[in-house]
Amino acid sequence: MTVRDRVAIVTGGGSGIGEGIAKALAHAGAKVCIADISPTGLERVTGEITASGGAALGVKTDVSSAESVAALCQKVPDSFGRIDILVNNAGIIAPEVEIDEMSEATWDKILTVNLKSQYLCCQNAVRVMKKQGYGRIVNIASRSWLGGRGLANYAASKGGVVSLTRSLAIELGKYGITANCVSPTLVVTPLFLGMPKEEQEQDLQKAAKNPIPRLGTPADVACAVLFFASDEAEFITGQHLYVGGGADLWTSGTL
Ligand SMILES: NC(=O)c1ccc[n+]([C@@H]2O[C@H](COP(=O)([O-])OP(=O)(O)OC[C@H]3O[C@@H](n4cnc5c(N)ncnc54)[C@H](O)[C@@H]3O)[C@@H](O)[C@H]2O)c1
Repeated sequence: MTVRDRVAIVTGGGSGIGEGIAKALAHAGAKVCIADISPTGLERVTGEITASGGAALGVKTDVSSAESVAALCQKVPDSFGRIDILVNNAGIIAPEVEIDEMSEATWDKILTVNLKSQYLCCQNAVRVMKKQGYGRIVNIASRSWLGGRGLANYAASKGGVVSLTRSLAIELGKYGITANCVSPTLVVTPLFLGMPKEEQEQDLQKAAKNPIPRLGTPADVACAVLFFASDEAEFITGQHLYVGGGADLWTSGTL
């Protein structure tokens, strides 16, 4: 799968799944911009990629801010000349709470960071990609888009990502731009480890029942992203790939 010399932005690339994706793209020869709100994470990952011989740029970005995203999509072509690949990975989760107790502030925060951010990043990156006649957009959703108890805000944001991806694919194919999304199931990252121990324990029990009975790793997700991001995937668009050891084979959401 070829991404050599392509220019990639990975949002939330300073930790977890985004870190795995950024490192996999850099290892395959892409020039990678890590766009993260955390300066510590982006400096560490950028430094590690550069130290291992890759090309990386860290840009402190708040993906929920239109100004910050516009500045990112200006800075990357200024530094690397293009934007070929956009991986919309940055995302957050909130403690599980049923709908009658769910605060408006948390709803707004989750929808803004997980979904509005992808609209902002796509809009700005697509303006560059259209001029190139080339682009690969990979959006990170979640199996939780199917719905889950206490997860209405997170599930709605991820359902929005799946739907956004389909519209992007329909609009952008004629410009040489593809859009696909990847839904991980449970992946061991700081996000997962930050959940209450009780929820982690329940998730471990669920993972043990999956056809491949283990938790996922950032590298598991990165290989699916690399496929959609590659030159060779030019005829594949609007698709939604689960990376979860077969967890999606169970009938519906998180009961
Ligand atoms: N870990 C899982 O089990 C799992 C499962 C399904 C989907 N996902 C999704 O995968 C993505 C990555 O999750 P993760 O587990 O690696 O999380 P993580 O917390 O390890 O990493 C998320 C990164 O996003 C960054 N970030 C948060 N808010 C941001 C903002 N406003 N602007 C820019 N960067 C911001 C954080 O600083 C962090 O570096 C998320 O979209 C998440 O919803 C994770």
